[in-house]
Amino acid sequence: MKVADTGSALREILKNSSAPRVLVPTMGAFHPGHLSLMHRAREIAGPGGSVVVSIFVNPIQFDRAADLAAYPRPMARDLAACEIAGVDVVFAPTAESMYFPDRSVTITENLLSRGLCGAARPGHFDGVCTVVLKLFLLTGCAAAVFGKKDFQQLAVVRRMVRDLNVPVEIVACPTVREADGLAMSSRNTRLTPVQRADAPRIRRALLAAAALDTPAEIIASARAAIDTSPLARIDYLALVDAETLQPVAEIHRPAILATAVFYGEVRLIDHVTIPAGQPPRKGDIGSPLPLGS
Ligand code: PAJ
Repeated sequence: MKVADTGSALREILKNSSAPRVLVPTMGAFHPGHLSLMHRAREIAGPGGSVVVSIFVNPIQFDRAADLAAYPRPMARDLAACEIAGVDVVFAPTAESMYFPDRSVTITENLLSRGLCGAARPGHFDGVCTVVLKLFLLTGCAAAVFGKKDFQQLAVVRRMVRDLNVPVEIVACPTVREADGLAMSSRNTRLTPVQRADAPRIRRALLAAAALDTPAEIIASARAAIDTSPLARIDYLALVDAETLQPVAEIHRPAILATAVFYGEVRLIDHVTIPAGQPPRKGDIGSPLPLGS
């Protein structure tokens, strides 16, 4: 496995290889969710292709300086995990090598990124689109693997690829969860034991609400189940169309019930997909298997 810490070092590593590349963009601090993306990338690349993992805590997508400063960066452990996952190249650039001090070009998606996490985190998706496009260009990847956990990010990246004719196939992987249903996240390690014990209520609240009939009932039920906790503070909770990500008043097409919840300074996101006319059944809350949304 080779490691590059600047764009030119990466180009040097990749220059003589014509093998198709599959990129897994990450901010490091790996958990099994990230590893599932690497394994998928390995499958797609096949023995002849190469898997590139980027590890970059992208400063321009953070709206809160405290969140950026507190973001875990266990680089030695991450590199060891990449090696075990069969990654060929790790691109772990410094912020200085990624951004000129007078950089003046930013990618903005103007529709899907407006609500949900975009409304709560101004500039976040501009930062994501800009770094993702840079990573695509730097690696020359043919495909890139993303997690469905960040469904708005996935939708925004797909829209960027469509609208700008970016020649990269976007592959989506299911959300990997802890045994108690909490979506795995690099931020989970920052929860206190008491917060960690409370956090699975997010998933339970969404699943129970998704089994109800009307949008008003669904939203009220999920909100009440999360609000009951004195530790949890809802950032947003919304029922949106699965394609347009606009709020829905009736469920005629697949919808997504999505939330972001603060435990202290730690912000966790999760969602469930509600198929039109077919509310999901309760259950499977404790399943450690990927649940597909
Ligand atoms: P990061 O939060 O490190 O996530 C990297 C990838 O892992 C994303 O595609 C995310 O959706 C996926 N992922 C995170 N938790 C997951 C889980 N529990 N199950 C499955 N996949 C999961 O998302 C980012 O980094 C950044 O915004 C990035 C795209 C790298 C741009 O900076």
